[in-house]
Amino acid sequence: MNLPPPLAHLPPPPAEAQAVSDRLAGLIAGEIAAGGGWISFARYMELALYAPGLGYYSAGSRKLGRDGDFVTAPELSPLFGRCLARQLAELIGRGLTDVVEIGAGSGALACSLLTELAALGQAPDNYFILEVSADLRERQRERLAERAPQQAGKVRWLEVLPPHFEGIIIGNEVLDAIPVHIVRTHGGAIEEMGITGGQNGGSFARGYRSATGALLSAAEKLGLPDDYETEIHLAARAFVKSFARILRHGAMLFIDYGFPAREYYHPQRNRGTLMCHYRHHAHAEPLCLVGLQDITSHVDFSAIADAGAGGGLDVLGYTTQAQFLINCGITDLLGAIPATDVRAYAPFAAQAQQLLSPAEMGELFKVIALGKGVTPPLLGFRSGDKSRTLSTSISITQKL
Ligand SMILES: C[S@@+](CC[C@H](N)C(=O)[O-])C[C@H]1O[C@@H](n2cnc3c(N)ncnc32)[C@H](O)[C@@H]1O
Repeated sequence: MNLPPPLAHLPPPPAEAQAVSDRLAGLIAGEIAAGGGWISFARYMELALYAPGLGYYSAGSRKLGRDGDFVTAPELSPLFGRCLARQLAELIGRGLTDVVEIGAGSGALACSLLTELAALGQAPDNYFILEVSADLRERQRERLAERAPQQAGKVRWLEVLPPHFEGIIIGNEVLDAIPVHIVRTHGGAIEEMGITGGQNGGSFARGYRSATGALLSAAEKLGLPDDYETEIHLAARAFVKSFARILRHGAMLFIDYGFPAREYYHPQRNRGTLMCHYRHHAHAEPLCLVGLQDITSHVDFSAIADAGAGGGLDVLGYTTQAQFLINCGITDLLGAIPATDVRAYAPFAAQAQQLLSPAEMGELFKVIALGKGVTPPLLGFRSGDKSRTLSTSISITQKL
């Protein structure tokens, strides 16, 4: 397939990367054939991102950071991890001394959190990482050994979820990377989008079938207008529920871009939020550059709160990233850098601007805290808590 218009000016991928992509496309085409000529979009996205050794997050190419495809907050600035560390320090002070980070990417957040927590005298007893990509696990090990050698000994990688956990679970930009199902309303019916084609090196195409089962009932509850296409986050809901079930006592914090259901499924957002990132260009065609580009969707935070409630968790707070970072003291951290030293101060001021500005990450990115046996308010939500905007159903309203 040719690159879509926003990418047409870019050079084609290097031959080695193209060869990995071709192998992945062959694997997906094999699944389509075995599935009778169709697989769900969620399965396509799962293979494109995570097929062992071939998927976007599983093959060896560099994805995160300035020389990759996109930059996340912990990659952008250590201020992000230093603020989050203050929230963790409050919870560690309440006796939640173990931390699990889900989807640690390059290890940037683990490095800044562990360094700052040690500086605050609130180092966790254990820092576990749950990472689906073997390639990224290796990068995390290397980065921690290089940038936080004194803390690296505390870090252990989990192969599976423990049966029970007491402590803090965090995930930055993980929920948006979990495969989504896509539905559309068409002629009064609800259909699921899937992927067809790919045989003999041909391109993939979209194919629609009647939605069934859990997907159909989730879509029906949204009351979507006709000619509307959007994502439904069945896997993210199950993911949050699986953590909720093992959490005996503690808090989960997820930071990501997204909205409450009322905004997510607004009649005007009638083509959903699915996006792809390749070399810092965003576009909406997931069927090209198979395994070479990120595929992501915004998070439906109401569905996340609902999934947590289903697993016995309360919403402890929900707010914008800007409000959370301000509540955690980002302005004090910035103020502690002497403004007279322009060379030292200017980069941090620019990073803080990107993290906080409503035109950049400040408003679109949200922080949600869910918990069991933890009494709010938490530091990051002391001011500007918007938990009430999450409610779509009786179950959430009752928890708030
Ligand atoms: C967009 S990256 C974010 C990385 C990092 N948290 C950051 O902010 O820079 C998504 C991360 O989530 C991981 N991931 C996705 N699904 C996962 C799952 N089910 N379990 C564990 N890690 C997962 C990916 O491999 C990757 O490390």
